[in-house]
Amino acid sequence: MKTISLFLIGLLLLTGASAAVSAEKKEQTDSRIKELISKMTLEEKLGQMSQFDPGQLGGPENAKQAIKDGKVGSILNLVGASAVNDLQKVAVEESRLGIPLIIARDVIHGYQTIMPIPLGLAASWNAEVAEDAMAVAAAEAASEGIHWTFAPMIDVSRDPRWGRIAESCGEDTYLTSVMAKAMVKGFQGDDLSNPKTIAACAKHFVGYGAAEGGRDYNTTLIPEVQLRNDYLPPFKAAADAGVATFMSAFNDLNGVPTSGNEFTLKQILRQEWGYNGMVVSDWASIAEMIPHGYAANKKEAAERALTAGVDMEMASDCYVGNVQALLDEGKIDMATIDRYVTNILRLKFELGLFERPYTDEALAEKTILTEKHKEIAQQAASESFVLLQNKNEILPLSNEISSVAVIGPLADSPHDQMGTWVFDGKKENSVTPLTALTEKLGDAKVNFAKGLKISRTKSTEGFAEAVEAAEKSDVVLLFLGEESILSGEAHSLANLNLQGRQTELLEAVKATGRPVVLVIMAGRQLTIERELKLADAVLYTWHPGTMGGPAIADMLFGETVPSGKLPVTFPKTVGQIPIYYNHKNTGRPADYEQWTDINKIPAEATQHSLGNTSHYLDAGFEPLLPFGFGLSYSSFAYSNLELSSNTMGAEGAIEVSVDLKNTGKYEAAEVVQLYIRDRFGSVTRPVKQLKGYKKITLKPGETQKVSIVLKAKDLEFFNGKDYVVEAGDFDVWMGTNSKEGLHAEFSIN
Ligand code: GLC
Repeated sequence: MKTISLFLIGLLLLTGASAAVSAEKKEQTDSRIKELISKMTLEEKLGQMSQFDPGQLGGPENAKQAIKDGKVGSILNLVGASAVNDLQKVAVEESRLGIPLIIARDVIHGYQTIMPIPLGLAASWNAEVAEDAMAVAAAEAASEGIHWTFAPMIDVSRDPRWGRIAESCGEDTYLTSVMAKAMVKGFQGDDLSNPKTIAACAKHFVGYGAAEGGRDYNTTLIPEVQLRNDYLPPFKAAADAGVATFMSAFNDLNGVPTSGNEFTLKQILRQEWGYNGMVVSDWASIAEMIPHGYAANKKEAAERALTAGVDMEMASDCYVGNVQALLDEGKIDMATIDRYVTNILRLKFELGLFERPYTDEALAEKTILTEKHKEIAQQAASESFVLLQNKNEILPLSNEISSVAVIGPLADSPHDQMGTWVFDGKKENSVTPLTALTEKLGDAKVNFAKGLKISRTKSTEGFAEAVEAAEKSDVVLLFLGEESILSGEAHSLANLNLQGRQTELLEAVKATGRPVVLVIMAGRQLTIERELKLADAVLYTWHPGTMGGPAIADMLFGETVPSGKLPVTFPKTVGQIPIYYNHKNTGRPADYEQWTDINKIPAEATQHSLGNTSHYLDAGFEPLLPFGFGLSYSSFAYSNLELSSNTMGAEGAIEVSVDLKNTGKYEAAEVVQLYIRDRFGSVTRPVKQLKGYKKITLKPGETQKVSIVLKAKDLEFFNGKDYVVEAGDFDVWMGTNSKEGLHAEFSIN
């Protein structure tokens, strides 16, 4: 007993001491900032508030002069430790006050070891995988002089026409919040001054994923109830996780561009959340308030952004050219400017840039693309893959197989498998599925034919070779999907079918009678109803990154077992969009797929004979595949759903548990998902909401009780006036996806 108490006393003393040290350090930093600001001219303050791309600085000599004159506080897209040190030296040793530059870059899902796209990382439902992936990205980026990344992108995204869904963590607020926290921790670690960590950036604040029509940069109309319940929570999770910066967005939110939006940037972020990090605009999004029609000119744009609370202007010059006038006119006061400069300088101190402004130029060689980093990338890819279908358990394949046909435009595309938002990844470092399968099976067993040059190829001239490869093989491994350029920023699509003649290629190889394993690489969910019917097995790998090939090969041959679950709903057709699992019930819910084939409607059907419920006459109302869906090579049984109580108070909690058994023949992981439904509320509530999950690995035959604590606080929502936890009746499910699960009921009293 004595040992324990001594340990606890020691722990308390240590904690107290470290708190005192950090308080003292904060005090020192604050006073150093105050002293610096007291010496700064307005031009130097505006320099700190300005971030430019090297191309905007008029070449190296002009850049150095601008830095020397204190006109630049941050540069984005400057690459390489030597190049960074070169300009940093001017800032630190030649400018009047020696304030270091902060160097930023979009390191979204890897620097040179490219991880799965964030939508794929979310499909792993494994926060540790996401954290490890971003920690690798941070270490590699930091070794090349980068201090700050513009990630994680945590815009809830319900529309796969929007190309940036690839960068998101999908449609669900809870899963995105879990990933937001993990990714921030991965990038930032526990100490921003650690040379292996970089500042993260919660973006795009806020509502950018709700672009009307899924068309990028389009307007967003989000009622406050939906904004606070669906779109804000991931940003609050990032803020609570200590994210160093936020980025405002391109979209106008209910008529007010988010880069000039006082409600979001001032009331919510600063006043309600008490956030004291730094806010940067998106690329020229301050100047873009002019084409938005929200500012008549750069001066008004500057006033709007400064009034709302954007500390740093990225890639436009509204601040630099207009703040003096705004001060003279009393529209902005110097205290505001000083507050913004403080936020910027505080970040530079936290990063240790004043003490350690330069990057060790020998670091990159020892850090980038290490075997450990590639292992982490391969593990992340493996856990991100979602098995959508496995007819007759054709997968996993046996190593004894005599030959495989490897076919398709994505079978050997080292560039495309990396996915969108890859600035520094090099395709020569990618290991493609063809390479990995050939290494695994040997040349003699692999018959390769691309069939189509790229995903959009219209010519079928390559089909004959593909059919020939199929005919001389035991099984076809067909790699279809999207080139990486078809998703990402400004890459919205109005049609989500496979591009080009890919489906025809599938039909052609299917016609040989060989079993077809379809592997789809894409930056979003696609409308693949036809392809699911044609293929025997379908593995969705998103864009899997540098190590996608070995991860796919190992999974197809059973060295790893699929454990991914969909972070998005798959629509049958683009016309169903938006379609997501946590939808409202409406007053006339469809409760079965009454009509999915318009041709089955009888001629001269009478007006109300088709059922007055919320569905499509030509697509029903169900999606193709539900959120949370994913198969395994093994199988799992759920039983014995238990609640510690069927009632709880508004401050209470109940433990929900279920027995999970691995009833298959492979050791495998299952994501046990907990959903609730608030049956009645002071505003209508979704038919289901994810409120917890656990990824559990079990051996064949093994059973484990899986418990998740559900707090009444987890059921809080905004009802248009207040955040409330309302008494009432609830449903709860524990299961394998958002459609299937054991059901129970509870109430809050
Ligand atoms: C882009 C993106 C943003 C990115 C920034 C810097 O337009 O919207 O996500 O971080 O500009 O590249």
